[in-house]
Amino acid sequence: MRNAIIKTELLCKSFISDGEVNNVIKNLDLEIYEGDFTVIMGSSGSGKSTLLYTLSGMDSVTTGKVLFEGADITSLKEKEISKLRKEKLGFVFQGINLIPNLNVYENILSPTYKTRADRKKIEEKIAALLEKMELISHKKKLPNQMSGGQRQRAAICRALINNPKVLFADEPTGALNSSQGQSVLDIFTKISREGQSVVMVTHDLKAALRGNRIIYLKDGRIDGDLKLDEYNHENEKEREETVYKFLKEKGW
Ligand SMILES: Nc1ncnc2c1ncn2[C@@H]1O[C@H](COP(=O)(O)OP(=O)(O)O)[C@@H](O)[C@H]1O
Ligand SMILES: [Mg+2]
Repeated sequence: MRNAIIKTELLCKSFISDGEVNNVIKNLDLEIYEGDFTVIMGSSGSGKSTLLYTLSGMDSVTTGKVLFEGADITSLKEKEISKLRKEKLGFVFQGINLIPNLNVYENILSPTYKTRADRKKIEEKIAALLEKMELISHKKKLPNQMSGGQRQRAAICRALINNPKVLFADEPTGALNSSQGQSVLDIFTKISREGQSVVMVTHDLKAALRGNRIIYLKDGRIDGDLKLDEYNHENEKEREETVYKFLKEKGW
C-alpha cells in the first residue's frame, strides 16, 4: 500500500471577480503519494496553479479539506501553517521572490536560520546545490544583479535546503534554457528517488517525462491520471510516445 502524504476531500476553490463566482477547483478528491514525482498538466487556465496553492497551504480553500500526513491543514492557524511550510514543504513558485537585500548564499541559507540542522552539513549542501545549479560565481550577488534564470535557480536551491517532505514547483523550468532545465529536473528526479515527494506543474513535455504519474486537469477536475514506471534516459523515447499519446487524447 502506498502512503498518501497529501489527500484532498471534495476540495473546492472559487474566486469572486466583478461580482461573478469563478469555480476554479471543483470537488476534487486527490491523493498524492509519498516519494512520487507527480506532474500536473492541463491547458492554461485549467486551475493548475490554484490547485498547487491550495494543496500546499499557501492559499485557503473555499470548501473541502486538504490533509497532510493525515491531518487537516485547512483549519490550521496562520502560525501553525507557516511552521509546517517551513519545516516540511518547499516551494518553487513564480510569486515567491528571493529576499532582495540578501545575497544568493544568504537567501539559500535563510530557511535554516531557526532550525537545529548541523551547520557543517548545511554548508556542504549549499555548496553542492550551488555547483549543480551553476551559481558558484554568483553566490555573493544580490537578486537584482542576476538574470531571471539565475534567480529561478537560486530559488530552487533555497526550496531544497531544508530537505522538504514535499516540494511544490510551478513551471520550474519555464525561465531556464534546456541544459539548466535538465539540471533542475535531475535534482527533482534524484530527491524523489530518495523518498521526497515532488508535485510539479508544467507544460513542458520533456519535464513531464520525469514524473511517475501525470495528472491532467481540465476545467478544475481530474480528467486523466497516467501512471508510469521509473524514469531513465534509456526509455525516454518510448516514454515520450506514451505521454504524448495520453496528452493528445486529453486535448492538450
Ligand atoms: N487570485 C486570483 N483571483 C481571482 N481569480 C484567480 C486568481 N488566481 C487564479 N484565478 C483564476 O482561476 C483560473 C485558473 O487559474 P490558474 O490556476 O492560474 O490556471 P493555470 O495555472 O492552469 O493556468 C483562471 O480563470 C484565473 O483567472
Ligand atoms: Mg499556472
